[in-house]
Amino acid sequence: MQIITEPAEMQAIAEKLRLNRQLIGVVMTMGALHEGHLALVKLAQKSAGTVILTIFVNPRQFGPTEDLHSYPRPFEQDVALAKSAGVDYLFAPELCTIYPEHFQTAVQCGSLGDRFEGRQRPGHFNGVATVVTKLFNITKPHKAIFGEKDAQQLAIIRQLVADLNLNIAIVGAPVVREENGLAVSSRNIYLSSQERSTAGVLYQGLCHAEKRIGGREKNLLTIAKEVEEMISSTPGCRTDYVSFVDEERFELTETAEEGKEYRLLIAAYSGSIRLIDNVKIRA
Ligand code: PAJ
Repeated sequence: MQIITEPAEMQAIAEKLRLNRQLIGVVMTMGALHEGHLALVKLAQKSAGTVILTIFVNPRQFGPTEDLHSYPRPFEQDVALAKSAGVDYLFAPELCTIYPEHFQTAVQCGSLGDRFEGRQRPGHFNGVATVVTKLFNITKPHKAIFGEKDAQQLAIIRQLVADLNLNIAIVGAPVVREENGLAVSSRNIYLSSQERSTAGVLYQGLCHAEKRIGGREKNLLTIAKEVEEMISSTPGCRTDYVSFVDEERFELTETAEEGKEYRLLIAAYSGSIRLIDNVKIRA
């Protein structure tokens, strides 16, 4: 595995790979690699000859009160994990090469970036869209794998690629979970063992919703309320939002239509830690 830190060098390598007709798959991360990230690498390896993994903690997607400075950065451990996962190139740029002093251009997401996570974190998705666009231009991938764990981010990246005519196939990867159903996340290290175990209620909520829709309940508001109740009646847990959106436009939806796909989005706290999760359900 080659470690690259300079954007120009990464670009030159990607260009050469393309000239040699290599299919490039990219997995973008902020590091602190875990099973969820490694599953994306595996998926990339299935469909691309060369896998580039990027590690960059992007300040532009953190709010002023968020955990940018304390975000975990176990670089040596990440290098070892990436190597043993069979990553071909690890692109880990310095902050100043991605955002040099006079940097001023940004990608704006529009209304899709203002809802749900965007409401809680103003400007977050513009920061994501900007860095993802830059990393696309640096790594020149044919395919890019993103986790369904961050379903709104995935929807925004699909929209970005369509709107800006980027010739990149976006692949969504299933959520990797811990034994109790809690979605694996770099921030789970902040949970106490008690919080970690009660946080399994988010997954139970998603399963409950799947069952209710499988049982032909069409009122999505009713189901969302039931899930909200399940979570908020669990000691130490409270919800931020529990909402159904349609899979196509990511708009709030109240009633399910037979055969259409919806996504139940949950943002909730276990103790003081905010968690997100979701599931796609066909009515
Ligand atoms: P990060 O939170 O490090 O996540 C990197 C990728 O891993 C994302 O596509 C995310 O959805 C995926 N992922 C995280 N946990 C997962 C899980 N449990 N199962 C499956 N996939 C999972 O998302 C970001 O970084 C950043 O916003 C980034 C896209 C890199 C831009 O800075």
